[in-house]
Amino acid sequence: MVSLKRVLAGLTVLPTVLAHPPPFADGRGHKIAPKVFIISMFAPEGEAWWGIPEFDILAHNITVPGLSPLFPHVHCTADHAVCQLITGESEINAAVTMTSLVFSDLFDLRSTYFFAAGIAGISPLQGTTGSAAFARYAIQVALQYEFDAREIPQNFSTGYVLQGALAPGQYPLSIYGTEVFELNQDLRSHAVAFAKKAKLADSTTAQEYRAHYKQNGTHEQYKIAALPPSILECDVATSDVYYSGNLLSQAFDNTTRILTNGTGTYCTTAQEDNASLEALLRAALHGRVDFARIVIMRTASDFDRPYPGESPTYHLLQAEQGGFEIAVENIYRAGIHVVQGILDGWKETFDHGVKPSNYIGDIFGTLNGKPNFGPGRAQSLEESGALLTKRSRAELSKRRPLRL
Ligand SMILES: *[C@@H]1O[C@H](CO)[C@@H](O)[C@H](O)[C@H]1NC(C)=O
Ligand SMILES: *[C@@H]1O[C@H](CO)[C@@H](O)[C@H](O)[C@H]1NC(C)=O
Ligand SMILES: *[C@@H]1O[C@H](CO)[C@@H](O)[C@H](O)[C@H]1NC(C)=O
Ligand SMILES: *[C@@H]1O[C@H](CO)[C@@H](O)[C@H](O)[C@H]1NC(C)=O
Ligand SMILES: *[C@@H]1O[C@H](CO)[C@@H](O)[C@H](O)[C@H]1NC(C)=O
Ligand SMILES: *[C@@H]1O[C@H](CO)[C@@H](O)[C@H](O)[C@H]1NC(C)=O
Repeated sequence: MVSLKRVLAGLTVLPTVLAHPPPFADGRGHKIAPKVFIISMFAPEGEAWWGIPEFDILAHNITVPGLSPLFPHVHCTADHAVCQLITGESEINAAVTMTSLVFSDLFDLRSTYFFAAGIAGISPLQGTTGSAAFARYAIQVALQYEFDAREIPQNFSTGYVLQGALAPGQYPLSIYGTEVFELNQDLRSHAVAFAKKAKLADSTTAQEYRAHYKQNGTHEQYKIAALPPSILECDVATSDVYYSGNLLSQAFDNTTRILTNGTGTYCTTAQEDNASLEALLRAALHGRVDFARIVIMRTASDFDRPYPGESPTYHLLQAEQGGFEIAVENIYRAGIHVVQGILDGWKETFDHGVKPSNYIGDIFGTLNGKPNFGPGRAQSLEESGALLTKRSRAELSKRRPLRL
């Protein structure tokens, strides 16, 4: 998530030339089979990879139907080993763009590593601005009932209630299937080891702002927020709503714990990852991508809640947190080691893949295996409305054709 002024600034980088339709597809009649596919969400994240010394990702611009009108091209290096696209921001843009990519016949993505690398908010309980966090879980935290703050019952801790539940803190009884995605933790360990080679950028504005989180007494828990940026392993929340403040952050931290049955760590906040993951999961079901080859890295551009004593509106809307520039820079500084680590280790390790020792996939167990979260396949399918009930079967059989 980024502030509105950043989003508007991002919009000034509109593509001015339409690329030519691709010769099929790498010019030699082969489908394009990148080793690494970088997923960016908006222009500043995309440009973090442009003009770098390691490779020229703008050597090919390939128009792919279904991509965002703002970002209509897939960009690739001359040898097509590394490609990139920009999804556009929020869940809808991410879902449509990624679906269009993974079902495009221009590409063979079966061995491709997907590297979603964007900026995000961060919980001061887990880290600080400029840090790069690698997720095992992506949690769609705002897929809930919501009551306006002014109408919340006295005995509710938040206005958010999971769907089908009767009060905050209860497990949902209505499941959509996109609530939680779990990724390959063994691949994450490789990515984290690569990223730890990076010297992360920092700035005095970011240092000054994060120093406010260092308080003695009651706010000891924010100590880590005042430390320099680092490489973290913790999870990403997805929400179209760009929320901020103590209470919503705590509510979605609670949601993360409930939906992952206590195994996830609420850490970064963004607007796309669950949507991109749902597209990748559907493609994996048809053998078009390998769900064990996904890395999500989010670099922190701002805190999800104010420092003690600061108003939440001042924190989000006015304060200069200094995190945006270093977060964008650190996408490149940390991310380049992940890309190069995969390319350099291709023959030895990554071509045949890194076997996950944990469950990977969604709450239904769509890709087989048994999720370590959720109510199990049978019950979650029932609660998703995927199964016809006896009652609805009986009602359907009573239907008569309309006489017009
Ligand atoms: C690809 O597009 C980018 C900007 O969108 C442009 O800078 C670059 O020159 C283009 N590359 C080619 C080969 O046309
Ligand atoms: C809140 O209070 C109402 C009565 O006002 C009660 O029905 C409900 O069970 C309470 N909920 C919780 C979560 O305590
Ligand atoms: C979002 O993705 C994360 C990580 O893959 C997953 O743990 C989470 O369940 C997903 N949430 C939703 C609502 O899809
Ligand atoms: C708490 O912080 C204040 C201001 O940063 C400082 O003056 C004070 O000595 C600190 N107290 C303790 C017990 O560390
Ligand atoms: C989060 O959960 C804890 C423990 O159940 C509860 O005390 C707290 O009020 C919850 N916070 C919010 C904002 O819902
Ligand atoms: C997760 O928690 C829910 C609610 O407590 C429970 O019904 C479900 O069985 C748990 N799932 C796993 C895999 O432990």
